Formats: sequence, structure tokens, C-alpha cells
Amino acid sequence: MVNYNTFLHGYNLEVKADGKCSPMGSPPATLGQFPLRHPYRFYRFLCDLDDLVESVSDDLERIRIAAVLTRHFLTQATWITETCPVPDQDQRVAGKSLYGEPGYPFIIQVVAWLPQRSPVHNHANWSIVGYLGDEMAGCEHNSFWCRQDDGLKKGHAIIKKASQQILKPGDIIGFTPDAIHSIVSIPCEKGIDSKPTYTFNIFGETDFSQRYEFDPLNNTLKKF
Ligand SMILES: [Fe+2]
Repeated sequence: MVNYNTFLHGYNLEVKADGKCSPMGSPPATLGQFPLRHPYRFYRFLCDLDDLVESVSDDLERIRIAAVLTRHFLTQATWITETCPVPDQDQRVAGKSLYGEPGYPFIIQVVAWLPQRSPVHNHANWSIVGYLGDEMAGCEHNSFWCRQDDGLKKGHAIIKKASQQILKPGDIIGFTPDAIHSIVSIPCEKGIDSKPTYTFNIFGETDFSQRYEFDPLNNTLKKF
């Protein structure tokens, strides 16, 4: 796999419960606690994320700082794409853990996707997704949804599509825990000989009691 530094370019985007995908807002002044190092080793990135969770409790502020750190890290860590597993034609997806320790407040995974569709879901954690690879790597069409009901009726949820976005290698998106999305992994823009869609994922601590898969046709939800 060719190392191609897409993270020198690309967009930082954010999505909250309202389902609007927008350019990521400015990180809070707390970002100053995290000097941007050269080289930015993986273990230092992990330490920064650990300190970030400890010192910043607001999820939106967290993802805005985490996105800056993630772009800085991925710009230097060109080896990351090499760690992506190869999905087989039946499974369509293959994931690999890059970091996870029992009791620690986040995990990091890389995932490779062949073209396919996900259910509509939330993550119930703060999350960052970076799109890896070169210009031949696949992209991801994201739809973002907004919940319309008050959440009081068990098993019931009315959601409405609020925005959509195609994410390409070099882009980074942050989700607050209540953001709802569905994805279709798609080939690269050139279409021919596309590689899988490669993602670098940071997931904060998950509140499994609040993680759902939504059915927008039948206005239902179930645990995900
Ligand atoms: Fe997701």
C-alpha cells in the first residue's frame, strides 16, 4: 500500500444530536495543554487522549480537541493505513484493535470496509473517525438523522434525515454521543480498482443503555 499523506488536506467536521454536519468548531483554549509534538509517537497520542478525557468533560469540546490531535497524529503516522486488515468478500468488513485496555476510557480501532450499508445508529460515546488511505481508497456516504420524539415511549423513535456528506481520505469527523448516522461505504471517486474504505476510529466509553439501532420506516429502535 502506498503511503500518501492525505491528512495534510481534508476537512474536520462535527455532528451533534441535531444531525447537521458542519465544519468543526474551534477547539477550546484547553487545546493549549497539548503541545503539537514532532515526532508525535502513538504512545504520546494515547497519553494526550487520556489527559483529554480527564481534563475536558464536555463531549463537544473533547471531539474538537481530539480532532486536532488526531489530524496531527495521522499526518505523521503514515504507518497506520498499513495496519488495516483485508476484508473478505463475504464478511465485507474487517476490524483490528490498535489500542484498548480494560478500564480505560477510550479504544482505537482501524476498520476496512468493502461497499455496504450500515443500520441507522448512534454510538453513545464521543467518537472520532478519520478516513485513511490514498486517492484510490474508498469513501463513505454518511446520512445524519435527528430524533423528533421525546424518547419516553419504549421502543419508539421518530427520526428525520437532517443532512448528508461524503467523507473521503484525509477527512476527520467527530460525533457527540447522541449523534445518529447511517453509512454506505462506497468506492473511490475514480470508481475503477477502488480499495476498501479505511477508517481510524476513536471511541470513548460507551453507555450501552443508550446505544440504539433505529428503524426510520417503522419508527422503532432497539439496542445496538
Ligand atoms: Fe457509526
